Amino acid sequence: MNKLLVGNWKMNPRRLAEARVLASRIDHGLTNLDRGQLETVIAPPFVFLSAVKHSIHFVKLGVQDFFHEEKEGAFTSQVSIGQIEDFGTTYAILGHSERRAMGEKDKQINAKIKIALKHKMHPILCVGHGVGKKASPSVIKRKIGSQISAGLKGVKFRNSDLTIAYEPVWAIGTGRAVDPEHSLEISEFAKSKIGDVRVIYGGSMNAENASGFAVAGIEGGLIGGASLDAAQFLAIARAFADSPSSQQ
Ligand code: PGA
Repeated sequence: MNKLLVGNWKMNPRRLAEARVLASRIDHGLTNLDRGQLETVIAPPFVFLSAVKHSIHFVKLGVQDFFHEEKEGAFTSQVSIGQIEDFGTTYAILGHSERRAMGEKDKQINAKIKIALKHKMHPILCVGHGVGKKASPSVIKRKIGSQISAGLKGVKFRNSDLTIAYEPVWAIGTGRAVDPEHSLEISEFAKSKIGDVRVIYGGSMNAENASGFAVAGIEGGLIGGASLDAAQFLAIARAFADSPSSQQ
């Protein structure tokens, strides 16, 4: 299974020109990297999809969300899957804890997973919302288990169709990543529940700690802050490209 690194730009950067420069720096840096079995994705804000599409060759294009109704219509401010397909987007981050905190429900996430698969877009189902720093492993597994079950209710998929991103909410944007061993334990738990899907980690992954995750066997990362700095993102990519299981 290929490893996967996804740059979640969130509501960044401010200017179109900055988006272009950042995307092409990342893309250019990847040309000099022996990427092995590593896939890289940039998920910019919708308004920058076109600019980023024209600035990349190696890195793939993703989105941070789309609307849970498939058919276009009277949904002010929303974006349908059909409207993003023409940009060549192949990955969709769904159920991010920042969206769940804005009121997104499992039912909507579940609908989006089904729409994504129908449109041959690879969903990255984020789980970890509500996981506290001091929660015991059994509580964490219960929460993760229920988010996975609700997100995938009635979904038919092959293992290669889907990625789970474990993102404990206290680790996001705080500079305090979890131990790679903990991340691996949750990854194994998720696989025991739904099969050998790819499980990646997100939450303050950066150039310094990425190799710890790669060496532990984590299958990739969902990178927020560090994806806004091309040198950091490329250092993380290097750590995963160099890790033994990427070179099988
Ligand atoms: P972070 O964000 O890398 O800035 O912690 C990760 C995410 O929210 O996907």
